[in-house]
Amino acid sequence: MNSLPRIVIFISGSGSNARSVIRHSKENQGYHVQRLYSNKPERGADSITADLDVELGLLSDEILAGPALFTKLNEENIQLVVLAGFLRKIPVSFLRGFKGKLINIHPSLLPAHGGPGMYGQRVHEAVIANGDTESGCSMHYVDEDYDTGAVIEQFTCPVLPEDTPKTLAARVLTLEHEHYPHVIHKLLNP
Ligand code: GRF
Repeated sequence: MNSLPRIVIFISGSGSNARSVIRHSKENQGYHVQRLYSNKPERGADSITADLDVELGLLSDEILAGPALFTKLNEENIQLVVLAGFLRKIPVSFLRGFKGKLINIHPSLLPAHGGPGMYGQRVHEAVIANGDTESGCSMHYVDEDYDTGAVIEQFTCPVLPEDTPKTLAARVLTLEHEHYPHVIHKLLNP
């Protein structure tokens, strides 16, 4: 086992950000992805772990809330838990245990367009409905509420007059893929 700082990634969806974070780890050796966890592995996590040779972990609400996962991640000396489209609420017990070591990415410039129910296309619909001329993504620490933890970094892109939620989502996602791995790398290699 290598001596790089270790992370785990939690996803619920297709995991395109997870793919980009894992690729970066293999190409740059700034951190090691110990495991990719999903509560819906058939949505994409299973093919990512097969393609990129990473261990797959299954999550359920019971596993998240119980002590075994927390103990395992501590024993493995996991230094960062990276959320990337993970749609289940993180229990307070887990949050407290990983305080300052749990980060998320959100597809808007927080505090704008965050909070309960603000995920996926809804975020981009809200940006366009609000007439914003700029959007982007936010990497932030996770606290006990939705999208309210301290922002680590934000990256911006324009909102074009002809944008639909779909075209804006694609532009923001490209920005996420480009920057999330670097933010993780910098946090672990200050
Ligand atoms: C991203 O837009 C991220 O900001 C949000 O969920 C989405 C995950 O997309 N938290 P993917 O599964 O990485 O493609």
